[in-house]
Amino acid sequence: MPKYALVLAAGKGTRMKTELPKCAFPILKKPMIEYIVEGVEASEVDESVAVVGHQREVLEDLLGDRVAYAYQEEQLGTGHAALSAAEVLEGKEGTTIILLGDMPLIDEEIIDGILATHERMENDLTVVTADYENPEGYGRIVRDRYGRIERIVEESDLALGQDSITEVNTGLYAVDNRYLFEMLRRIERNPNKGEYYLTDIVEMMKDDYSIGSYTIRDAIKVMGVNDLYAISIAEKYMRDSINRKHMLNGVSMINPETITVGHNVRIEGNVTINPNTTITGDSCIKTGAAVGPNTEVHNSVIEKDAEVRHSLVYDSIIRTRSTVGPFAHLRKQADIGPDNRIGNFVEVKKSRTGEGTKASHLAYIGDARTGDNVNFGAGSITVNYDGVDKHETHIGDDVFIGCNTNLIAPLSVENNVFIAAGSTVTDDVPTGALAIARGRQINKEDYAKNLVKPKKDAGAPKKPNGPEEAHASEPPEEK
Ligand code: UD1
Ligand code: CA
Repeated sequence: MPKYALVLAAGKGTRMKTELPKCAFPILKKPMIEYIVEGVEASEVDESVAVVGHQREVLEDLLGDRVAYAYQEEQLGTGHAALSAAEVLEGKEGTTIILLGDMPLIDEEIIDGILATHERMENDLTVVTADYENPEGYGRIVRDRYGRIERIVEESDLALGQDSITEVNTGLYAVDNRYLFEMLRRIERNPNKGEYYLTDIVEMMKDDYSIGSYTIRDAIKVMGVNDLYAISIAEKYMRDSINRKHMLNGVSMINPETITVGHNVRIEGNVTINPNTTITGDSCIKTGAAVGPNTEVHNSVIEKDAEVRHSLVYDSIIRTRSTVGPFAHLRKQADIGPDNRIGNFVEVKKSRTGEGTKASHLAYIGDARTGDNVNFGAGSITVNYDGVDKHETHIGDDVFIGCNTNLIAPLSVENNVFIAAGSTVTDDVPTGALAIARGRQINKEDYAKNLVKPKKDAGAPKKPNGPEEAHASEPPEEK
């Protein structure tokens, strides 16, 4: 039997109180909807449809052609949303699993478990439930005295006595696709909220169709995220379970509650992650590497035995045995070669360095390519921007760049070059040259006394804001 997934993601997410449509809201820097679609993709589902509406283009951009789309122009409720998928799914033989776009902790095991149970029990409709100590916000499952599901009651419609029910509707259903759309068309507006409730199909089907239920034991995995507090709970759960998996694989985490690792990050064994570190996106940390403390890594690779401390690393690669930080910023597309040293207050952008290159303090390297064994002195800068365009700097092997050097791009510095400290280099430098590009020093003999006036009366009280104070470079001596 073919299997279809129908993901409802058209809602605005009013309770989030943010601009972004709820299902696009990130958890561990990844949009919520992607977790659901990844779960569906890894499951036995053959075809999936997402219902989009509010800011549909945001979701369509995120998902591309991973799913088919149905459009719900006006958000008139979950029943109305599901019905919007008629144009794609109606008339097909098979089982449809309905999922909500706000259940980011779901995975393929749950999806396949629901589908398998639905088929095994030969149900027409399987309602997926969970037990919550605090069921606030969820629709409650009302059962008859034989334990059969009679209907689902939304929180705002609970009758007296029903508020003690802790079995909730997860919003997941498996349903025989032949009957689904006929039922959806028969849903009437809820008099309270004026919306078409998908949950109404239970009561409609209970007499003439076989309805079963399936209870998820790990209830948190099907939690619905409606507000920013729920985002934090989902994020905490996801963080803990991801960290646990890595630790069991031989990753050492110091203070793991302060460490956030994204869903798709790969970390090899024998890696150490120090406190207050966030590694997200498509990142990979290889064996022997150490990351953190106080470090952010996003979409980046840290190779074997490399080290990054107190630094930001985005869309970059740090090759083997290199050390980065403290307080370095690899902004985007930095490719730090093997055995490099990128030190304090160094920013690197769109640049590639060869082996054994060093920029130990206070440097900006942008739009540059360096060979092996290049030394950037403190304060050296590749001046890549002329106010209109960006230009490149090419540096060969074995180049020594003195402190406070400006390399004005476009510029080519060949192999075995020495650049004198304080130079502003505007012309290419040939192999083996010493480049000096700065004002010559003049020493005026016996002249300093004209500039530095000795204090006349050391004993006299100081005037407030007097010239002595304004020019003082040292704090007054303590008595
Ligand atoms: C829904 C269920 C509730 C269940 C809970 C589980 C209904 C009426 N209620 O409530 O029984 O316990 O989920 O988490 O079904 N959506 C649309 N179009 C709409 C409205 C919603 O696409 O017109 C989408 C939303 O984007 C969201 C999902 O459907 O992803 C669920 O909507 P939401 O408003 O969060 O429903 P709940 O109130 O949580
Ligand atoms: Ca919800």
